[in-house]
Amino acid sequence: MAVTITTSAQHHEAARVDLLVVPAGPDGPIGEAKALRRELQGDLEGVARASGFQGRPGQTVVIPASGRIAAKAVLLVGVGDPAALTLDGLRRAGATLAKASAKVKKVATTLLDATPKGVSAEAAGQALAEGILLGAYQFLDFKSKGTPNALERVAVLGAGADAKRGVTRGSAVAGAVAWARDLINVPADSKSPEEFVAAARRLLTGTGVTVRVWDERKLADERMGGLIGVGQGSARPPRFMKITYSPVGRARGHVAFVGKGVVFDSGGLSLKPAGGMETMKTDMSGAAAVVAAMSVLKRLGVETRVTAYVPLVENMPGGRAIRPGDVLSMRSGTTVEVLNTDAEGRLILADALALAVEDGVDAIVDLATLTGACVVALGEKVAGLMGNDDGWSGQVRAAADRAGEPVWPLPLPAEYRKFLDSETADLRNIATVNFGGALTAGIFLEQFVGDRPWVHLDIAGPSRASGDDGYLLKGGTGFGVRTLIEVAEDFSAPAAKAAPARRRPAPRKGARR
Ligand code: BES
Ligand code: MN
Ligand code: ZN
Repeated sequence: MAVTITTSAQHHEAARVDLLVVPAGPDGPIGEAKALRRELQGDLEGVARASGFQGRPGQTVVIPASGRIAAKAVLLVGVGDPAALTLDGLRRAGATLAKASAKVKKVATTLLDATPKGVSAEAAGQALAEGILLGAYQFLDFKSKGTPNALERVAVLGAGADAKRGVTRGSAVAGAVAWARDLINVPADSKSPEEFVAAARRLLTGTGVTVRVWDERKLADERMGGLIGVGQGSARPPRFMKITYSPVGRARGHVAFVGKGVVFDSGGLSLKPAGGMETMKTDMSGAAAVVAAMSVLKRLGVETRVTAYVPLVENMPGGRAIRPGDVLSMRSGTTVEVLNTDAEGRLILADALALAVEDGVDAIVDLATLTGACVVALGEKVAGLMGNDDGWSGQVRAAADRAGEPVWPLPLPAEYRKFLDSETADLRNIATVNFGGALTAGIFLEQFVGDRPWVHLDIAGPSRASGDDGYLLKGGTGFGVRTLIEVAEDFSAPAAKAAPARRRPAPRKGARR
Protein backbone atom coordinates (compact mmCIF):
# COMPACT_ATOMS: atom_id res chain seq x y z
CA MET A 1 0.00 0.00 0.00
CA ALA A 2 1.39 3.35 -0.96
CA VAL A 3 1.57 5.91 1.83
CA THR A 4 -0.41 9.15 1.42
CA ILE A 5 0.95 12.33 2.94
CA THR A 6 -1.45 15.11 3.87
CA THR A 7 -0.75 18.51 5.37
CA SER A 8 -2.58 20.45 8.03
CA ALA A 9 -2.07 23.75 9.81
CA GLN A 10 -3.23 22.02 13.03
CA HIS A 11 -1.11 21.26 16.04
CA HIS A 12 -0.43 17.98 17.76
CA GLU A 13 -3.08 18.15 20.51
CA ALA A 14 -5.85 17.37 18.00
CA ALA A 15 -4.07 14.59 16.11
CA ARG A 16 -6.09 11.40 16.61
CA VAL A 17 -3.49 8.97 15.31
CA ASP A 18 -1.66 5.78 16.22
CA LEU A 19 1.62 7.61 16.50
CA LEU A 20 2.68 11.23 16.86
CA VAL A 21 6.22 11.64 15.52
CA VAL A 22 8.22 14.57 16.86
CA PRO A 23 11.82 15.77 16.50
CA ALA A 24 14.23 15.81 19.41
CA GLY A 25 17.82 16.88 19.94
CA PRO A 26 20.24 16.37 22.85
CA ASP A 27 18.22 18.87 24.89
CA GLY A 28 14.89 17.18 24.29
CA PRO A 29 11.94 17.86 21.96
CA ILE A 30 12.18 20.61 19.34
CA GLY A 31 9.45 23.11 18.45
CA GLU A 32 5.86 22.60 19.53
CA ALA A 33 6.71 19.12 20.84
CA LYS A 34 8.29 20.83 23.85
CA ALA A 35 4.77 21.02 25.26
CA LEU A 36 4.73 17.20 25.44
CA ARG A 37 7.01 17.34 28.46
CA ARG A 38 4.16 18.81 30.44
CA GLU A 39 1.37 16.93 28.67
CA LEU A 40 2.99 13.56 29.30
CA GLN A 41 3.74 14.50 32.91
CA GLY A 42 7.43 13.74 32.98
CA ASP A 43 7.12 10.41 31.13
CA LEU A 44 8.88 11.87 28.14
CA GLU A 45 12.14 12.58 29.98
CA GLY A 46 11.78 9.44 32.08
CA VAL A 47 11.36 7.01 29.20
CA ALA A 48 13.95 8.78 27.05
CA ARG A 49 16.54 8.62 29.82
CA ALA A 50 15.77 5.01 30.73
CA SER A 51 16.15 3.91 27.09
CA GLY A 52 19.42 5.78 26.50
CA PHE A 53 17.85 8.20 24.00
CA GLN A 54 20.18 11.16 23.44
CA GLY A 55 18.55 12.80 20.42
CA ARG A 56 21.24 11.60 18.05
CA PRO A 57 20.26 11.34 14.36
CA GLY A 58 18.42 8.09 13.72
CA GLN A 59 17.76 7.31 17.41
CA THR A 60 14.13 6.73 18.35
CA VAL A 61 12.04 6.07 21.44
CA VAL A 62 8.31 5.39 21.85
CA ILE A 63 6.34 6.81 24.78
CA PRO A 64 2.76 5.55 25.38
CA ALA A 65 0.38 8.51 25.78
CA SER A 66 -2.22 6.64 27.86
CA GLY A 67 -5.04 9.05 27.02
CA ARG A 68 -3.19 12.22 27.97
CA ILE A 69 -3.15 13.48 24.36
CA ALA A 70 -5.22 12.54 21.31
CA ALA A 71 -2.45 10.34 19.84
CA LYS A 72 -2.01 6.79 21.19
CA ALA A 73 1.75 7.15 21.48
CA VAL A 74 4.61 9.55 20.81
CA LEU A 75 7.74 8.69 18.85
CA LEU A 76 10.78 10.87 19.46
CA VAL A 77 13.05 10.96 16.41
CA GLY A 78 16.60 12.11 17.06
CA VAL A 79 17.77 14.83 14.69
CA GLY A 80 20.95 15.89 16.53
CA ASP A 81 22.01 19.42 17.43
CA PRO A 82 19.30 21.87 16.24
CA ALA A 83 22.01 24.31 15.12
CA ALA A 84 23.43 21.65 12.76
CA LEU A 85 20.18 20.56 11.06
CA THR A 86 20.38 19.91 7.31
CA LEU A 87 17.82 19.33 4.58
CA ASP A 88 19.10 15.79 4.15
CA GLY A 89 18.74 15.33 7.90
CA LEU A 90 15.05 16.10 7.45
CA ARG A 91 14.85 13.52 4.65
CA ARG A 92 16.50 10.99 6.94
CA ALA A 93 14.13 11.87 9.78
CA GLY A 94 11.27 11.19 7.36
CA ALA A 95 12.74 7.76 6.62
CA THR A 96 13.08 7.04 10.34
CA LEU A 97 9.40 7.93 10.74
CA ALA A 98 8.48 5.52 7.94
CA LYS A 99 10.45 2.62 9.36
CA ALA A 100 9.25 3.13 12.93
CA SER A 101 5.66 3.37 11.68
CA ALA A 102 5.66 0.21 9.60
CA LYS A 103 3.18 -1.54 11.89
CA VAL A 104 0.66 1.29 12.39
CA LYS A 105 -1.80 2.92 9.98
CA LYS A 106 -2.16 6.57 10.91
CA VAL A 107 0.64 8.91 11.87
CA ALA A 108 0.94 12.65 12.43
CA THR A 109 4.21 14.51 12.66
CA THR A 110 5.69 17.84 13.71
CA LEU A 111 8.99 17.06 11.98
CA LEU A 112 8.77 20.33 10.01
CA ASP A 113 9.87 21.92 13.30
CA ALA A 114 13.29 20.49 12.45
CA THR A 115 13.60 22.72 9.35
CA PRO A 116 17.16 24.08 9.21
CA LYS A 117 17.68 27.84 9.39
CA GLY A 118 17.54 29.54 5.99
CA VAL A 119 15.66 26.65 4.33
CA SER A 120 12.25 27.50 2.85
CA ALA A 121 9.13 25.78 4.10
CA GLU A 122 8.60 24.49 0.56
CA ALA A 123 12.02 22.82 0.39
CA ALA A 124 11.50 21.38 3.87
CA GLY A 125 8.06 19.98 2.99
CA GLN A 126 9.50 18.41 -0.16
CA ALA A 127 12.46 16.82 1.65
CA LEU A 128 10.25 15.46 4.43
CA ALA A 129 7.80 13.91 1.96
CA GLU A 130 10.66 12.38 -0.03
CA GLY A 131 12.19 10.91 3.12
CA ILE A 132 8.91 9.41 4.31
CA LEU A 133 7.89 7.92 0.96
CA LEU A 134 11.33 6.64 -0.02
CA GLY A 135 11.93 5.28 3.48
CA ALA A 136 8.63 3.38 3.23
CA TYR A 137 9.60 1.85 -0.14
CA GLN A 138 9.35 -1.92 -0.45
CA PHE A 139 9.79 -4.27 -3.39
CA LEU A 140 7.74 -7.38 -2.69
CA ASP A 141 6.65 -8.42 -6.20
CA PHE A 142 8.65 -11.64 -6.05
CA LYS A 143 8.19 -12.50 -2.34
CA SER A 144 5.56 -15.17 -1.77
CA LYS A 145 5.31 -14.27 1.94
CA GLY A 146 6.26 -10.60 1.98
CA THR A 147 4.74 -8.35 4.64
CA PRO A 148 3.71 -4.96 3.28
CA ASN A 149 4.01 -2.05 5.70
CA ALA A 150 0.72 -1.13 7.41
CA LEU A 151 1.33 2.64 7.21
CA GLU A 152 -1.37 4.38 5.15
CA ARG A 153 -1.47 8.04 6.05
CA VAL A 154 0.93 10.63 7.43
CA ALA A 155 -0.37 14.07 8.37
CA VAL A 156 2.31 16.75 8.36
CA LEU A 157 1.28 19.21 11.04
CA GLY A 158 1.99 22.92 11.30
CA ALA A 159 2.15 23.18 7.52
CA GLY A 160 1.26 26.41 5.70
CA ALA A 161 0.69 26.86 1.98
CA ASP A 162 4.41 26.71 1.14
CA ALA A 163 5.04 23.50 3.06
CA LYS A 164 1.92 22.03 1.46
CA ARG A 165 3.26 22.81 -2.01
CA GLY A 166 6.57 21.22 -1.01
CA VAL A 167 4.85 18.05 0.20
CA THR A 168 2.96 17.79 -3.09
CA ARG A 169 6.18 18.17 -5.06
CA GLY A 170 8.05 15.73 -2.82
CA SER A 171 5.29 13.17 -3.26
CA ALA A 172 5.56 13.47 -7.06
CA VAL A 173 9.34 13.21 -7.00
CA ALA A 174 9.32 10.23 -4.65
CA GLY A 175 6.76 8.50 -6.87
CA ALA A 176 9.14 8.86 -9.81
CA VAL A 177 12.06 7.54 -7.78
CA ALA A 178 9.98 4.56 -6.62
CA TRP A 179 9.07 3.76 -10.22
CA ALA A 180 12.76 3.72 -11.14
CA ARG A 181 13.58 1.53 -8.12
CA ASP A 182 10.87 -0.95 -9.07
CA LEU A 183 12.16 -1.33 -12.62
CA ILE A 184 15.78 -1.58 -11.44
CA ASN A 185 14.82 -4.29 -8.94
CA VAL A 186 12.85 -6.33 -11.48
CA PRO A 187 14.84 -9.36 -12.72
CA ALA A 188 16.37 -8.92 -16.17
CA ASP A 189 14.27 -11.84 -17.36
CA SER A 190 11.16 -9.60 -17.18
CA LYS A 191 12.65 -6.44 -18.67
CA SER A 192 13.84 -7.01 -22.21
CA PRO A 193 14.41 -3.76 -24.12
CA GLU A 194 10.90 -4.20 -25.53
CA GLU A 195 9.40 -4.76 -22.08
CA PHE A 196 11.30 -1.76 -20.72
CA VAL A 197 9.69 0.34 -23.46
CA ALA A 198 6.24 -1.00 -22.55
CA ALA A 199 6.78 -0.17 -18.86
CA ALA A 200 8.00 3.33 -19.77
CA ARG A 201 4.99 3.90 -22.02
CA ARG A 202 2.63 2.90 -19.19
CA LEU A 203 4.34 5.37 -16.87
CA LEU A 204 4.45 8.20 -19.39
CA THR A 205 0.88 7.98 -20.68
CA GLY A 206 -0.93 11.19 -19.75
CA THR A 207 2.19 12.94 -18.42
CA GLY A 208 2.41 15.44 -21.28
CA VAL A 209 5.45 14.03 -23.07
CA THR A 210 5.79 12.53 -26.54
CA VAL A 211 7.43 9.14 -26.94
CA ARG A 212 9.11 7.77 -30.05
CA VAL A 213 10.57 4.27 -30.19
CA TRP A 214 12.95 2.82 -32.76
CA ASP A 215 12.87 -0.94 -33.31
CA GLU A 216 15.77 -2.95 -34.74
CA ARG A 217 14.87 -2.17 -38.37
CA LYS A 218 14.74 1.55 -37.74
CA LEU A 219 17.96 1.35 -35.72
CA ALA A 220 19.68 -0.12 -38.79
CA ASP A 221 18.20 2.58 -41.06
CA GLU A 222 19.45 5.20 -38.64
CA ARG A 223 22.97 3.70 -38.50
CA MET A 224 22.96 3.19 -34.72
CA GLY A 225 26.07 1.05 -34.93
CA GLY A 226 26.98 1.07 -31.24
CA LEU A 227 23.54 0.02 -30.04
CA ILE A 228 23.13 -2.62 -32.76
CA GLY A 229 26.62 -4.00 -32.14
CA VAL A 230 26.11 -4.46 -28.41
CA GLY A 231 22.66 -5.97 -28.99
CA GLN A 232 23.77 -8.63 -31.47
CA GLY A 233 24.55 -11.29 -28.90
CA SER A 234 21.10 -11.27 -27.32
CA ALA A 235 17.91 -12.99 -28.48
CA ARG A 236 16.06 -9.89 -27.31
CA PRO A 237 16.66 -7.02 -29.77
CA PRO A 238 17.62 -3.48 -28.76
CA ARG A 239 15.35 -0.43 -28.76
CA PHE A 240 15.87 3.30 -28.64
CA MET A 241 13.47 5.71 -26.96
CA LYS A 242 13.29 9.42 -27.50
CA ILE A 243 11.02 11.28 -25.11
CA THR A 244 10.25 14.98 -25.46
CA TYR A 245 8.79 17.44 -22.99
CA SER A 246 7.91 20.95 -24.19
CA PRO A 247 6.71 23.55 -21.70
CA VAL A 248 3.56 25.54 -22.48
CA GLY A 249 5.16 28.97 -22.86
CA ARG A 250 8.55 29.96 -24.19
CA ALA A 251 11.16 27.43 -23.04
CA ARG A 252 14.15 28.53 -20.96
CA GLY A 253 16.36 26.42 -23.20
CA HIS A 254 16.69 22.80 -24.27
CA VAL A 255 18.47 20.17 -22.21
CA ALA A 256 19.15 16.53 -23.14
CA PHE A 257 18.97 13.65 -20.63
CA VAL A 258 20.79 10.50 -21.74
CA GLY A 259 20.55 7.26 -19.74
CA LYS A 260 22.41 3.97 -20.10
CA GLY A 261 19.88 1.18 -20.50
CA VAL A 262 21.65 -2.18 -20.41
CA VAL A 263 18.90 -4.45 -19.12
CA PHE A 264 21.49 -7.10 -18.31
CA ASP A 265 25.26 -6.91 -18.62
CA SER A 266 26.84 -10.36 -18.85
CA GLY A 267 29.94 -8.71 -20.31
CA GLY A 268 29.27 -10.35 -23.69
CA LEU A 269 32.08 -12.55 -25.03
CA SER A 270 34.40 -10.73 -22.60
CA LEU A 271 32.26 -12.50 -20.02
CA LYS A 272 32.11 -11.24 -16.46
CA PRO A 273 32.93 -13.64 -13.62
CA ALA A 274 29.88 -15.02 -11.78
CA GLY A 275 30.12 -12.58 -8.87
CA GLY A 276 30.43 -9.59 -11.18
CA MET A 277 27.18 -10.50 -12.90
CA GLU A 278 25.05 -10.83 -9.78
CA THR A 279 23.87 -7.22 -9.76
CA MET A 280 23.95 -6.57 -13.51
CA LYS A 281 20.16 -6.41 -13.84
CA THR A 282 20.71 -2.88 -12.44
CA ASP A 283 22.79 -1.77 -15.44
CA MET A 284 19.73 0.11 -16.77
CA SER A 285 19.61 2.43 -13.74
CA GLY A 286 20.55 5.50 -15.80
CA ALA A 287 17.78 4.81 -18.30
CA ALA A 288 15.23 4.22 -15.53
CA ALA A 289 16.21 7.50 -13.84
CA VAL A 290 15.86 9.46 -17.07
CA VAL A 291 12.41 8.02 -17.87
CA ALA A 292 11.23 8.54 -14.29
CA ALA A 293 12.33 12.18 -14.29
CA MET A 294 10.53 12.83 -17.60
CA SER A 295 7.27 11.60 -16.07
CA VAL A 296 6.90 14.49 -13.59
CA LEU A 297 8.18 17.53 -15.52
CA LYS A 298 4.73 18.70 -16.54
CA ARG A 299 3.25 18.08 -13.11
CA LEU A 300 6.02 20.20 -11.57
CA GLY A 301 5.50 23.00 -14.09
CA VAL A 302 9.04 22.81 -15.49
CA GLU A 303 9.74 25.61 -17.98
CA THR A 304 12.67 23.97 -19.77
CA ARG A 305 12.39 21.90 -22.92
CA VAL A 306 13.77 18.44 -22.17
CA THR A 307 14.53 15.59 -24.56
CA ALA A 308 15.49 12.17 -23.24
CA TYR A 309 17.61 9.77 -25.29
CA VAL A 310 17.41 6.22 -23.99
CA PRO A 311 19.33 3.36 -25.62
CA LEU A 312 18.10 -0.06 -24.42
CA VAL A 313 19.98 -3.28 -24.99
CA GLU A 314 20.98 -6.61 -23.48
CA ASN A 315 24.70 -7.45 -23.47
CA MET A 316 24.91 -11.21 -24.06
CA PRO A 317 27.47 -13.64 -25.59
CA GLY A 318 25.17 -15.30 -28.17
CA GLY A 319 26.38 -16.77 -31.44
CA ARG A 320 26.03 -13.48 -33.28
CA ALA A 321 27.70 -11.44 -30.55
CA ILE A 322 30.39 -8.89 -31.41
CA ARG A 323 33.89 -10.23 -30.96
CA PRO A 324 36.94 -8.55 -29.50
CA GLY A 325 38.65 -6.96 -32.49
CA ASP A 326 35.43 -6.23 -34.38
CA VAL A 327 34.97 -2.66 -35.59
CA LEU A 328 31.68 -0.81 -35.22
CA SER A 329 30.65 2.14 -37.32
CA MET A 330 28.88 4.51 -34.99
CA ARG A 331 26.01 6.94 -35.61
CA SER A 332 28.47 9.85 -35.69
CA GLY A 333 30.56 8.16 -38.41
CA THR A 334 33.39 7.39 -35.99
CA THR A 335 34.68 3.80 -36.13
CA VAL A 336 35.37 1.92 -32.90
CA GLU A 337 37.46 -1.19 -32.39
CA VAL A 338 35.77 -3.24 -29.68
CA LEU A 339 38.54 -4.88 -27.69
CA ASN A 340 36.42 -5.67 -24.67
CA THR A 341 32.72 -6.38 -25.12
CA ASP A 342 32.18 -5.58 -21.43
CA ALA A 343 32.86 -1.89 -22.11
CA GLU A 344 29.43 -1.74 -23.78
CA GLY A 345 27.83 1.21 -22.02
CA ARG A 346 30.01 3.75 -23.81
CA LEU A 347 29.12 2.17 -27.17
CA ILE A 348 25.37 2.64 -26.78
CA LEU A 349 25.77 6.06 -25.15
CA ALA A 350 27.94 7.28 -28.03
CA ASP A 351 25.03 6.87 -30.46
CA ALA A 352 22.57 8.52 -28.06
CA LEU A 353 24.92 11.46 -27.47
CA ALA A 354 25.39 11.88 -31.22
CA LEU A 355 21.61 12.20 -31.65
CA ALA A 356 21.41 14.84 -28.92
CA VAL A 357 24.16 16.80 -30.67
CA GLU A 358 22.31 16.51 -34.01
CA ASP A 359 19.19 17.95 -32.34
CA GLY A 360 21.18 21.03 -31.32
CA VAL A 361 20.34 20.88 -27.61
CA ASP A 362 21.85 23.58 -25.37
CA ALA A 363 23.40 21.12 -22.93
CA ILE A 364 23.58 17.40 -22.22
CA VAL A 365 23.70 15.35 -19.04
CA ASP A 366 24.16 11.58 -19.16
CA LEU A 367 23.65 9.05 -16.37
CA ALA A 368 25.38 5.72 -16.62
CA THR A 369 26.45 2.76 -14.48
CA LEU A 370 29.60 2.96 -16.53
CA THR A 371 32.66 1.70 -14.66
CA GLY A 372 33.72 -0.42 -11.71
CA ALA A 373 36.70 1.94 -11.54
CA CYS A 374 34.41 4.77 -10.44
CA VAL A 375 33.15 2.59 -7.58
CA VAL A 376 36.77 1.93 -6.58
CA ALA A 377 37.48 5.67 -6.64
CA LEU A 378 34.37 7.09 -4.94
CA GLY A 379 32.65 4.14 -3.27
CA GLU A 380 29.02 3.20 -3.18
CA LYS A 381 27.50 6.52 -2.18
CA VAL A 382 29.07 9.08 -4.51
CA ALA A 383 28.71 9.50 -8.27
CA GLY A 384 31.60 10.71 -10.42
CA LEU A 385 30.94 13.93 -12.34
CA MET A 386 32.90 14.67 -15.50
CA GLY A 387 32.31 17.31 -18.15
CA ASN A 388 33.67 19.61 -20.82
CA ASP A 389 32.23 22.93 -19.58
CA ASP A 390 32.84 24.31 -16.10
CA GLY A 391 29.66 26.38 -16.05
CA TRP A 392 27.46 23.45 -16.96
CA SER A 393 29.30 21.10 -14.58
CA GLY A 394 28.71 23.65 -11.82
CA GLN A 395 25.02 23.80 -12.64
CA VAL A 396 24.61 20.02 -12.49
CA ARG A 397 26.66 19.79 -9.31
CA ALA A 398 24.55 22.46 -7.62
CA ALA A 399 21.39 20.60 -8.68
CA ALA A 400 22.72 17.34 -7.20
CA ASP A 401 23.59 19.14 -3.96
CA ARG A 402 20.09 20.58 -3.68
CA ALA A 403 18.62 17.15 -4.39
CA GLY A 404 20.81 15.54 -1.72
CA GLU A 405 22.50 13.18 -4.19
CA PRO A 406 26.29 13.17 -3.61
CA VAL A 407 28.47 13.74 -6.68
CA TRP A 408 32.16 14.58 -6.90
CA PRO A 409 34.15 15.97 -9.83
CA LEU A 410 36.68 13.85 -11.70
CA PRO A 411 38.93 15.20 -14.48
CA LEU A 412 39.06 14.36 -18.19
CA PRO A 413 42.80 14.80 -18.81
CA ALA A 414 43.53 15.57 -22.47
CA GLU A 415 46.78 13.63 -22.21
CA TYR A 416 44.83 10.40 -21.55
CA ARG A 417 43.07 10.65 -24.90
CA LYS A 418 45.94 8.78 -26.57
CA PHE A 419 45.15 5.64 -24.54
CA LEU A 420 42.08 5.28 -26.76
CA ASP A 421 44.04 5.32 -30.04
CA SER A 422 43.28 2.19 -32.05
CA GLU A 423 45.59 0.31 -34.36
CA THR A 424 42.75 -0.34 -36.79
CA ALA A 425 39.91 2.14 -36.24
CA ASP A 426 39.39 5.73 -35.04
CA LEU A 427 39.05 4.71 -31.40
CA ARG A 428 39.31 1.64 -29.20
CA ASN A 429 36.62 1.03 -26.58
CA ILE A 430 39.01 0.29 -23.68
CA ALA A 431 42.16 2.14 -22.78
CA THR A 432 45.61 0.65 -23.34
CA VAL A 433 46.38 1.25 -19.65
CA ASN A 434 44.41 -0.25 -16.78
CA PHE A 435 44.34 2.69 -14.41
CA GLY A 436 42.02 5.71 -14.50
CA GLY A 437 39.19 3.62 -15.93
CA ALA A 438 36.42 6.06 -15.00
CA LEU A 439 38.29 8.88 -16.72
CA THR A 440 39.11 7.06 -19.94
CA ALA A 441 35.46 5.97 -20.17
CA GLY A 442 34.50 9.64 -19.80
CA ILE A 443 37.02 10.65 -22.45
CA PHE A 444 35.54 8.04 -24.79
CA LEU A 445 32.09 9.64 -24.40
CA GLU A 446 33.60 13.10 -24.85
CA GLN A 447 34.52 12.14 -28.43
CA PHE A 448 30.81 12.08 -29.30
CA VAL A 449 29.51 15.36 -27.85
CA GLY A 450 31.16 17.79 -30.28
CA ASP A 451 31.18 21.30 -28.82
CA ARG A 452 28.02 20.85 -26.74
CA PRO A 453 28.25 21.51 -22.99
CA TRP A 454 28.06 18.02 -21.53
CA VAL A 455 28.18 16.36 -18.11
CA HIS A 456 28.65 12.66 -17.49
CA LEU A 457 27.54 11.17 -14.16
CA ASP A 458 29.05 7.73 -13.51
CA ILE A 459 26.48 6.24 -11.14
CA ALA A 460 27.91 2.69 -10.99
CA GLY A 461 28.30 3.08 -7.19
CA PRO A 462 25.18 4.87 -5.95
CA SER A 463 22.71 3.22 -8.37
CA ARG A 464 22.52 0.34 -5.93
CA ALA A 465 22.72 0.15 -2.15
CA SER A 466 24.23 -2.96 -0.58
CA GLY A 467 22.35 -2.29 2.67
CA ASP A 468 19.61 -0.09 4.14
CA ASP A 469 20.69 3.46 5.00
CA GLY A 470 17.99 6.02 5.79
CA TYR A 471 15.77 6.55 2.77
CA LEU A 472 18.06 4.41 0.59
CA LEU A 473 17.11 0.78 0.90
CA LYS A 474 19.05 -2.29 -0.18
CA GLY A 475 18.74 -2.68 -3.96
CA GLY A 476 18.09 -0.12 -6.69
CA THR A 477 18.14 3.43 -5.31
CA GLY A 478 16.79 5.48 -8.21
CA PHE A 479 19.88 7.69 -7.89
CA GLY A 480 19.79 10.60 -10.32
CA VAL A 481 16.03 11.06 -10.63
CA ARG A 482 16.05 13.90 -8.09
CA THR A 483 19.13 15.53 -9.61
CA LEU A 484 17.66 15.45 -13.13
CA ILE A 485 14.43 17.03 -11.93
CA GLU A 486 16.43 19.79 -10.21
CA VAL A 487 18.50 20.29 -13.37
CA ALA A 488 15.36 20.72 -15.46
CA GLU A 489 13.69 23.03 -12.96
CA ASP A 490 16.60 25.40 -12.67
CA PHE A 491 18.10 25.17 -16.14
CA SER A 492 19.80 28.05 -17.85
CA ALA A 493 21.59 27.45 -21.14
CA PRO A 494 25.36 27.58 -20.55
CA ALA A 495 27.08 30.50 -22.28
CA ALA A 496 28.48 29.56 -25.68
CA LYS A 497 32.15 28.78 -25.43
CA ALA A 498 34.34 31.69 -26.59
CA ALA A 499 35.15 30.73 -30.15
CA PRO A 500 38.83 31.04 -30.96
CA ALA A 501 39.33 34.50 -32.49
CA ARG A 502 39.05 34.01 -36.21
CA ARG A 503 39.34 36.85 -38.64
CA ARG A 504 36.80 36.69 -41.39
CA PRO A 505 37.49 38.54 -44.64
CA ALA A 506 35.01 41.35 -45.20
CA PRO A 507 32.37 40.29 -47.76
CA ARG A 508 33.23 41.47 -51.22
CA LYS A 509 31.07 44.20 -52.65
CA GLY A 510 28.11 42.76 -54.47
CA ALA A 511 28.79 39.24 -53.16
CA ARG A 512 25.61 37.30 -52.50
CA ARG A 513 25.26 36.18 -48.91
N1 BES B 1 28.11 -2.11 -16.08
C1 BES B 1 29.51 -2.18 -15.91
C2 BES B 1 30.04 -1.26 -14.82
C3 BES B 1 29.63 -1.57 -13.42
C4 BES B 1 30.44 -2.30 -12.60
C5 BES B 1 28.46 -1.07 -12.90
C6 BES B 1 30.09 -2.55 -11.31
C7 BES B 1 28.08 -1.32 -11.59
C8 BES B 1 28.91 -2.05 -10.80
C9 BES B 1 30.21 -1.78 -17.22
O1 BES B 1 29.54 -2.10 -18.39
C10 BES B 1 31.50 -2.52 -17.28
O2 BES B 1 31.46 -3.71 -17.37
N2 BES B 1 32.60 -1.80 -17.21
C11 BES B 1 33.90 -2.39 -17.25
C12 BES B 1 34.76 -1.57 -18.18
C13 BES B 1 36.06 -2.23 -18.51
C14 BES B 1 35.84 -3.45 -19.36
C15 BES B 1 36.93 -1.23 -19.24
C16 BES B 1 34.45 -2.39 -15.84
O3 BES B 1 34.21 -1.44 -15.09
O4 BES B 1 35.08 -3.38 -15.47
MN1 MN C 1 29.94 -4.07 -19.06
ZN1 ZN D 1 27.48 -2.22 -18.24
